[in-house]
Amino acid sequence: MKILVTGGLGYIGSHTVVELIKNGYETVIVDNLYNSNEHVLERIEKITGVKPEFNKVDILDRNGLEEVFKRHSFDGVIHFAGYKAVGESVAIPLTYYENNVAGSLNLYELIKKYNVKSLIFSSSATVYGDSFASPMKEEYGLGVTTNPYGTTKLMNEMIITDFAKTNRNISAVILRYFNPIGAHESGLLGEVPNGIPNNLVPYIARVANGTLDYLNVYGDDYDTVDGTGVRDYIHVVDLARAHVLALKYANEHNGCEVINVGSGTGYSVLEVLHAYEKACGHKIAYHVTDRRPGDIATSFADTKKAEKLLGFKVERDIADMCRDSYNFTVKNPDGIK
Ligand code: NAD
Ligand code: UFG
Repeated sequence: MKILVTGGLGYIGSHTVVELIKNGYETVIVDNLYNSNEHVLERIEKITGVKPEFNKVDILDRNGLEEVFKRHSFDGVIHFAGYKAVGESVAIPLTYYENNVAGSLNLYELIKKYNVKSLIFSSSATVYGDSFASPMKEEYGLGVTTNPYGTTKLMNEMIITDFAKTNRNISAVILRYFNPIGAHESGLLGEVPNGIPNNLVPYIARVANGTLDYLNVYGDDYDTVDGTGVRDYIHVVDLARAHVLALKYANEHNGCEVINVGSGTGYSVLEVLHAYEKACGHKIAYHVTDRRPGDIATSFADTKKAEKLLGFKVERDIADMCRDSYNFTVKNPDGIK
């Protein structure tokens, strides 16, 4: 089976391409290299022995994207391409709507035109907003988003749901990711944030390797186990496996399903920090500062639907996530070059 992977050289996309190849799929990648580079392709080949076809195409370039559809007959599309920085999306909202919504519309038009059966979309737990209590259940529906990035995910969910309603041949699975962290166990693939990381684990990784001095813990007065924010961290390889299962599900069904992908367990900021200390073998300095605007106290997934429909369960725990994150950071101090 042949699968188009948009954003396939990015963090989650590259790990998913590896899992797809391992499971016998042929993959074709489209990426504009906005947040990745072609060396990722060599890393994928090193791990799998297969170099997937890569097309440097922007999904906003409708004609360029169509050329890829003309040359192939795809059984499915996994759509990762998009911008993902929450703070940046507040500063440049139109750029986010253009890339994440208009770009996606180009792709959905082509999926329709070329009769592609399956679509898997990268959504986020951010669509629950701060409207609901954890564990977050899919049947809660959509909450109120707190930033344009989250709104682009919400809009895509609505567009795909409507699209699947009137196009009975399409089978869509919207995956709501919780907090993907970690790296490929080989140390060849991982997350390379631009500049100072916004997210917890990439930041801790840079304190652990001495690039940054200490972690700012955003608040210790939440109603949680130790007062710090609680999130549902999932190893990126487990998340990648979920895409392979979602694709199999989509191929065997019609319609549209929304499915959480998390571990179902929440860890506080300090619990993650201590797990990382074990992984790197030394203490990690931190200062407690004010709460970060827009943060919620606790977010973790109800994972029953993923288990029931996809047969998905995480296989890696927080110690594995920290070990693989640190291994990648040590082996790639300057990112994937
Ligand atoms: P990433 O930035 O590492 O990967 C995205 C890839 O898409 C990059 O390689 C980038 O170059 C490419 N891209 C961006 N705009 C493009 C365009 N117009 N045309 C072609 N390629 C384009 O991000 P990631 O962490 O791998 O996230 C993948 C998807 O999952 C995104 O849609 C993101 O919003 C979503 N998601 C991520 C997280 C997370 O914490 N990482 C959580 C929830 C959802
Ligand atoms: N945190 C710190 N210090 C930091 C960074 C984060 O204390 O330097 C805390 C946050 O306050 C929060 C927790 O660590 O309690 C996790 O924060 P992240 O920024 O790593 O993750 P978020 O849950 O805030 O957001 C992530 C993605 C969003 C996505 C959301 C839900 O960044 O894009 O998960 O999927 F929408």
